[in-house]
Amino acid sequence: MTMSLKTRLVLSSIALLAMVSAVIATATTLLLNVFLVDQLDSRVTSAAQRSTTAAGRPGTGPTADIGVAFLLFPGQAEGTFGARVHHGAVRRAAILTGTGTVLDVDAPPLVVHVTDVPITLTLGGLGDYRLAAARAPDGDLLVTGLPAEGVQATLTRLVAVEAAVTLGGVALIALACTVAVRLAVRPLHRLASTAARISELPLANGDAVRLARVPAIGTDTRTEVGQVGAALNRMLGHVEEAFAVRHESETRLRQFVADASHELRTPLASIAGYAELTARSGEIHGPQTTHALRRIRSEATRMTTLVEDLLLLARLDAGRPLEQLEVDLSPLVVDAVGDAYTVAPGHRWLISLPDEPALVIGDADRLHQVLTNLLANARTHTPPGTTVTTSIHVEPDRLTVRVRDDGPGIPQDVLPRVFSRFARGDDSRSRRAGGAGLGLAIVSAVAAAHDGRVEVTSVPGDTIFALVLPVAALRC
Ligand SMILES: Nc1ncnc2c1ncn2[C@@H]1O[C@H](COP(=O)(O)OP(=O)(O)O)[C@@H](O)[C@H]1O
Ligand SMILES: [Mg+2]
Repeated sequence: MTMSLKTRLVLSSIALLAMVSAVIATATTLLLNVFLVDQLDSRVTSAAQRSTTAAGRPGTGPTADIGVAFLLFPGQAEGTFGARVHHGAVRRAAILTGTGTVLDVDAPPLVVHVTDVPITLTLGGLGDYRLAAARAPDGDLLVTGLPAEGVQATLTRLVAVEAAVTLGGVALIALACTVAVRLAVRPLHRLASTAARISELPLANGDAVRLARVPAIGTDTRTEVGQVGAALNRMLGHVEEAFAVRHESETRLRQFVADASHELRTPLASIAGYAELTARSGEIHGPQTTHALRRIRSEATRMTTLVEDLLLLARLDAGRPLEQLEVDLSPLVVDAVGDAYTVAPGHRWLISLPDEPALVIGDADRLHQVLTNLLANARTHTPPGTTVTTSIHVEPDRLTVRVRDDGPGIPQDVLPRVFSRFARGDDSRSRRAGGAGLGLAIVSAVAAAHDGRVEVTSVPGDTIFALVLPVAALRC
């Protein structure tokens, strides 16, 4: 069973106190019992002596007392029991009453065995008596006794008082312990809540973060918890620094990629332009030069696309704000599918659109690019004759654009990392298609920048990309 530290501390304190109290109470009770019985025994012994003295006194006469007249001897206490045992049989047994008379009672048979060492016997309805015997001058055994009731009553009262005091003490200690433990673990709660707050921060995205610290009150190094708090704060400081350094280097890298891409655009445009110019100059070129010029143009176009993609990714990474306009996705889909059809009329291009407008808030160009990338994949990574269906499904709070094809599907080794940068299938079709593996990375980044996401499921004959975006009404 798991219990909180607080409960465990309180319970163990209570258990300890209860145990100590029980030991003390038992010892006290036993000792008091011995002490009281000793006391009673000495009184019983004195009473027994008085009885023999009384029985031996001249003047009482042999005829005068063959009974319990020894009870009337001065000094005998009220309630004293006396019995005369003659040849092993009780001759008479009586109790001394408050008025100085004797009251006959029945004596238990065991009375005949009483010796000068006091023992306890129960006398019928009179309760327990402590009895001692002494020999009378006439040879009879005189048994004298005093009620043990006082001893028992005292012990009972003592046990009751002990129980009450123990219970009260336990209740008091429980209360005091609860308060003390609560105060003692408060600094631990502070540590835990700081750690919990930090654990809720999104640390994976690489941004520099300001981490919460344990408040100064919880970092007093004179206490153990304070030492943990101070160590935690130092650690948080280091973590924060590490995050700042990482963020700094990532920002620099992003900036570098963005700058490099940007700088590459102009020379690339020049290369493509000059190749075009040379091809159209009207000069007669040999077949090799013509081929080389065509390759230069196509590679320049490919590289331009790559550079544009890199630049866009770098900007999305840097959190560059996108346009925030109301965009109807239906016409975008119609345009993008139209373009795809123009490029690849060998595929079957189907569209399924809702009756109502599919409105989102965002950047129309980027969303168009997402559709273009998805449709380009459905075109380039599938053979002609493949059916590609693009549909929009509007729900109250979100809408889903699905691009589904019945082509061969995404290779199993690529599927888990298909949205990563430069991830692409290594089959000849993919390489021929010429993409660098940035298309789906852009789709995913643009979706995220629109507070949406993109999902994929793919088996041979059924590949579905689903772009889920929040609908316009909710974001306004
Ligand atoms: N509709 C699809 N059918 C089969 N494979 C696909 C499809 N879409 C994407 N892929 C696979 O995912 C990889 C990554 O796609 P993408 O990021 O667009 O890169 P690229 O198209 O430049 O290769 C592709 O190389 C391809 O192997
Ligand atoms: Mg692609």
